[in-house]
Amino acid sequence: MTALPDLSVHYLPQFVAEHDFVGGTVVVIDLLRASTTICHALAAGAREVTPFVEVDDLRRAAEGQDRCGLLLGGERGGERIDGFDLGNSPRDYTAEVVFDKRILFTTSNGTRALHHARLAAKVVVGCLANLSALVESLSHDVDLHLLCAGTNGHVSREDILAAGAIAYEVTNNDRPARRLNDAAESARGEWQELLNTARSAGRNADEQLAVDLRDTPHGKTLVNLGFESDLALCATRDSAAVVPSYDARSGKVRAV
Ligand code: MLT
Repeated sequence: MTALPDLSVHYLPQFVAEHDFVGGTVVVIDLLRASTTICHALAAGAREVTPFVEVDDLRRAAEGQDRCGLLLGGERGGERIDGFDLGNSPRDYTAEVVFDKRILFTTSNGTRALHHARLAAKVVVGCLANLSALVESLSHDVDLHLLCAGTNGHVSREDILAAGAIAYEVTNNDRPARRLNDAAESARGEWQELLNTARSAGRNADEQLAVDLRDTPHGKTLVNLGFESDLALCATRDSAAVVPSYDARSGKVRAV
């Protein structure tokens, strides 16, 4: 009997060793907002996004580069970093601003999670914005990991919901059965519960997710910082239908 393909969810990078990803596929999830912003940047025509863990490393990489065609983007504490062109709101990454540009990018948790996944055979960025394209691209991947970025070392409900949505779609309809770890079962269950709540409240899933995001600690922080409209955008399915792929050798994320 052939073994079923695996689907594992990890609620935080700290919960899984980097070496466990060797040979597998990792979907890096930071729903609020790094994953969503990377998808929007590439969907709007940015040539590439280069993720950095540390602000200083990004600044050093920017030094000596021709600044024409290059943008610095990212956040600390949710806000744009001093001297950077862009923050971490997906709304900033429009075609007018990013088309054909190279973006050096750092965020508090999202780019750190990407770095954690670098030993995998395939690393892609996932969220609601690219859900359908992402799920389609994963159909043949047998050792599949959904890695939640979390928030400053704490598990984030928003990432679990996004992981649940991906797990739900990856195992739904005619797709082959998979062996789920406990965290994948539970994330998928959370998403199913959200769909049930949406149904009884007369909302669609995007609307219900936007409501739920307002109740998360990071969602509340973003509302307080004036980024309330980002919550609805991050909850909108297929708003940026690209599959960003991270090539750890070149250090770049590009749309495939
Ligand atoms: C992160 O990487 O922690 C987030 O993307 C923060 C944010 O919402 O800007």
